[in-house]
Amino acid sequence: MTQRKILVTSALPYANGSIHLGHMVEHIQTDIWVRFQKMRGNQCFYVCADDTHGTPVMLAAQKMGVAPEEMIAKVREEHLADFTGFLIGYDNYYSTHSPENKAFSQGIYKALKANGKITVKTIEQLFDPEKQMFLPDRFVKGECPKCGAKDQYGDNCESCGTTYLPTELKNPYSAVSGATPVLKSSEHYFFDLSSCEDFLREWTNGESVLANGKKQAHLQPEALNKMKEWIDGGLQNWDISRDAPYFGFEIPDTENKYFYVWLDAPIGYFASFKNLCDRIGIDANEWLNPNSDAEMVHFIGKDILYFHALFWPATLKFSGYRTPTAVFAHGFLTVDGHKMSKSRGTFITAKSYLEQGLNPEWLRYYIAAKLNSKIEDIDLNLQDFISRVNSDLIGKYINIAARSAGFIKKRFSGSLKNVANHSLIANLQAKAEEIASFYEEREYARALREIMLLADTVNEYTDANKPWELAKQDGADEKLHEVCSVLINAFKVLSVYLSPILPATSLAVAEFLNIPALQWQNAQETLPENHIINEYKHLMKRVEQMQIDKLIEANKQSIAPAPAVAVENNAEPVAPICSFDDFTKVDMRVAEVLSCEKVEGSDKLLKFQVDLGFEQRTIFSGIAKSYPNPDELVGRKVIAVANFAPRKMAKFGVSEGMLLSASSGGKLFLLSVDSTAQNGSKVG
Ligand code: MSP
Ligand code: ZN
Repeated sequence: MTQRKILVTSALPYANGSIHLGHMVEHIQTDIWVRFQKMRGNQCFYVCADDTHGTPVMLAAQKMGVAPEEMIAKVREEHLADFTGFLIGYDNYYSTHSPENKAFSQGIYKALKANGKITVKTIEQLFDPEKQMFLPDRFVKGECPKCGAKDQYGDNCESCGTTYLPTELKNPYSAVSGATPVLKSSEHYFFDLSSCEDFLREWTNGESVLANGKKQAHLQPEALNKMKEWIDGGLQNWDISRDAPYFGFEIPDTENKYFYVWLDAPIGYFASFKNLCDRIGIDANEWLNPNSDAEMVHFIGKDILYFHALFWPATLKFSGYRTPTAVFAHGFLTVDGHKMSKSRGTFITAKSYLEQGLNPEWLRYYIAAKLNSKIEDIDLNLQDFISRVNSDLIGKYINIAARSAGFIKKRFSGSLKNVANHSLIANLQAKAEEIASFYEEREYARALREIMLLADTVNEYTDANKPWELAKQDGADEKLHEVCSVLINAFKVLSVYLSPILPATSLAVAEFLNIPALQWQNAQETLPENHIINEYKHLMKRVEQMQIDKLIEANKQSIAPAPAVAVENNAEPVAPICSFDDFTKVDMRVAEVLSCEKVEGSDKLLKFQVDLGFEQRTIFSGIAKSYPNPDELVGRKVIAVANFAPRKMAKFGVSEGMLLSASSGGKLFLLSVDSTAQNGSKVG
């Protein structure tokens, strides 16, 4: 097999926040791929770093009363400890605030400039006269120009969703000092992206030929479509400079101008790699030059595609470096179906997970079981987490060793029979290349499904041969020895297949089996006659519900007034599980509003006359405040609960049902269906 050279990265986490389970999705996805490549014998390096520059980091350090250098050093330690806790095996975890990154960034800028890709333009921007600094959009707040909602950010309104310029806010104020910002002009440096259009069309559509002859598309199909839309919409020149005060690198031959954080962040991949190369004595240039036969792949979240699929390749191309082999984007993590939320306790930090004593391999397994090569969001469902880990990982896999190792040790002094050519083992071994291709294509969920089907065949074999009964029978020693030797060997093959996902267990298995660390090709070998295994120590515990409850409790925060940078989502918690049977007890029907009027003596109620197809009814609904003109509801097709007992509404009359509406922020919204739905149609 040709040995491939592969440089792999995960996106660089910002140095002003904690690592949470969303970040872990990305680093687990990357780490599994890297471990797989290494097990296959490829030369693979995995580098990452903290993304340390920019206004938020600068202000956070000021708030803490420390130098930014001090803060980022401390945060980097914390981040690395979190990632290490989840067994992420970087070859280097560095910082963008490094001499290597400064040299690369300035060198790349100079090359872009020499290639005519840098232009200068004077722009006007909001300026904080008290702090004497220009304000990024997120640091200007004020009233929404559309709906008037107070305390909205400078880029969009969280109340009505309108996007606008910070200069359009009414009564704007600086989120840093509270001062009223003023417009001030200054010179900015731009990367002339519009002149890179031809290259970007070609690159985004393109593919790389790997050392093994296989082709690899630069982008996933969904990402390619998005990029095409963006390019078709017209490429804007990219503002890469920021004025002092700014925490970053100075732009050569300018005064008080700094590189915008997003210019030097991806260059941080190179810097981290260079730092590694210098330490271990390899030539970074051999990997980074435009004719390199090495691969370079970036794992990122869908939110930062623009930077990685447009800005970054263009930056590299026009500064004389190699471009990426591929950019692999993933979706976002939700918890129990919702965006992670601090108030609900589902904004789970990596640290809290580890501190509660939860096993990092549980999460690695669960995330892997949900990941594929698409850009789909993935949900961490906590009940599903418990059941998958306990029933699949422990019940199907770990138990194979737990049920056979004791007999080998006690009855046969730890010595195995040679079971090469046993059909059960051969069947497991035959799947090696198929499972490998699933890992290669980042179809981890499919790999795990295949592996668990194999585990099922092993468990069927166990149940058919019942070693615990053989152990009690006279004269069944030979058979017991063979069955348990088959099981130990089967366990070994499955362990090879699971190694990229479960690196700690893989090492413990090698120790237990008394063999070197597992490589992919070891799946094809059975342990020789009389091979002695070590004593089996429990490899993994089950997850307990209590542990999950404690985890959520540990991550619950009372909702404090929103800080300047954080975004919070205050959705209603989801109600307890409702069975389908429970659901069908409610008979909901399409109803047409025949008339609708205000009710004298009530400022809440509206009185409806509706047609249910089979009959007409009077229904009162408490939505008057949200619909000041009841007339406009006439003719609407709404949803009515048809099987509630009639209910007397104080002095106003009897309500013969209920109309469904949604509530948010104190407002009610009447539910409707398409106007072509027949009156009386059942809903469900
Ligand atoms: N610093 C930039 C990246 C620079 S790369 C040259 C950044 N940092 S981040 O900390 O906000 O995000 C780091 C990575 O984590 C991104 O790829 C982002 O998509 C990913 N995720 C952040 N929240 C996530 C989820 N909830 N789910 C999955 N991935 C998430 O962006
Ligand atoms: Zn608004």
